[in-house]
Amino acid sequence: MNNRVIIFESSLRDGEQTPGAKLNAQEKLEIARQLARLNVDVIEAGFPISSPGDLKAVQQIAREVRGPIIAALARTVKEDIDCAWEAIKEAARPRIHVFLGASDIHMEKKLRKDPQTCLEEAVRAVKYAKSLTTDVEYSLEDATRAREDYIYKVVEAVIDAGATVVNIPDTVGYAVPQEFGALISRIIKHVPNINRAVLSVHCHNDLGLAVSNSLEAVKNGARQVECNINGIGERAGNAALEEIVVAMRIRPDHYPFTTGINEKEIYKTSRLVSKLTGIPIPVNKAVVGINAFAHSSGIHQDGVLKDKSTYEIINAELIGGQAAQMILTARSGRHALRKQLELLNYQMSDEDFALFYQRFLELADRKKEVYHEDLEALLIDISFTEPVYSLEYLHSVGGTRTIPAAVVLLKKGEETLQAVSTGTGPVDAAYKAVDKITGLKIKLGSFNIHAVTQGIDALAEVFITITHEDKNIIGRGVSTDIIEASVKAYLDGINKVLNLMAHSNNNKKKNRN
Ligand code: KIV
Ligand code: ZN
Repeated sequence: MNNRVIIFESSLRDGEQTPGAKLNAQEKLEIARQLARLNVDVIEAGFPISSPGDLKAVQQIAREVRGPIIAALARTVKEDIDCAWEAIKEAARPRIHVFLGASDIHMEKKLRKDPQTCLEEAVRAVKYAKSLTTDVEYSLEDATRAREDYIYKVVEAVIDAGATVVNIPDTVGYAVPQEFGALISRIIKHVPNINRAVLSVHCHNDLGLAVSNSLEAVKNGARQVECNINGIGERAGNAALEEIVVAMRIRPDHYPFTTGINEKEIYKTSRLVSKLTGIPIPVNKAVVGINAFAHSSGIHQDGVLKDKSTYEIINAELIGGQAAQMILTARSGRHALRKQLELLNYQMSDEDFALFYQRFLELADRKKEVYHEDLEALLIDISFTEPVYSLEYLHSVGGTRTIPAAVVLLKKGEETLQAVSTGTGPVDAAYKAVDKITGLKIKLGSFNIHAVTQGIDALAEVFITITHEDKNIIGRGVSTDIIEASVKAYLDGINKVLNLMAHSNNNKKKNRN
């Protein structure tokens, strides 16, 4: 059997289902371009029927990104399939991905249809998708809680109808590795036409087993793995792409498989996805967490200094990452900064670079040594489209026996708006001052802060979740000043809320016309 595993990346579809992780079309395109550099085989660019914004974003990716297959998700209804096709028809290699529930729980409780009706619907949908394009994937949603005889029947029928890929999702992350591997092996044994399609798996991480389940499925004959950078995705997320790829690289004795992934792009892709989705990478995240290559115990440090292999099984360079190192100071100049950005594989226009250089100087003034991680954290400021509100001035007061207070000046277009507030602490006071200016009713959910590098002058990175009406949004901000980083994160979230509101107002207007 062929040992090449197809990597199907779904950060822009299942990954974007992470609560709060809303991406605009430009951000989606930027991630898709990076996924192409990472050399994934398939980019699932979105679920076009879910919103006009998603349809447009998928269309743009299909038009502009070359290399990987561009897939779009659809339910088994004609309207969805037409919309998916509309989104991807300009791709060099389009794929329509159709799904329908396969478990009794989904068919009885969600779809309220009997298994025979669902089977016929699946076949009809695949035939219709096939009339539009040759590459059609079919997913049996919640397969790991479905009856096995029904799985065989559906897989055989959709392959006969023309499916080129059949996907077995562990939608609720219920499977355990041995059981899941055995299921894949039995599907191969019992479905007579299985050789006419690629067998795929799609594992969620509710029990923390998504990567193990995916690897076990590959060992048992699956040849497409659906996975996401940093393991982002619905609920506890999906299988992490980087963990699967690196496990195959480091343990070929157990996983004698290859992928087309350009591993040197893993680190950069991981940072970009985190930056644009606003979903932080846990410090101890396997392969890409900042502690994955850090050694803190004296015994470990001593061992690594003598020979890295004593405590390291993965070389950071394999994934294109480098240990934190002092690279730049305020005196380094434009040329040196350009060079370091090139080393990090960031290209930018002269206009963006001029803006970035100013940000760099501001940082280098506050922080003597600037590391790669600092540059990457700063890049957020030039990645986003023009914000509605930006921070012009902040003065905050806090401490023992003082009343915490903040003065905030925000820029909105040409206007400068000002407010003063007190609060339970300096962050609360500053957020209240921002609320006075914007007039929005924002509820703060989580608040997380961490240092990008080590040392007292490190950049602080703040991730927050905010709720406005029914929308959950993630905001991110960086600064050497933790109150300023907190306010930037709040404004980042607010700007995203305002962009979403503008978007839905435009859509309402269009629907009325
Ligand atoms: O988890 C799931 O079942 C899915 C399908 C749409 C493939 O995301
Ligand atoms: Zn999923």
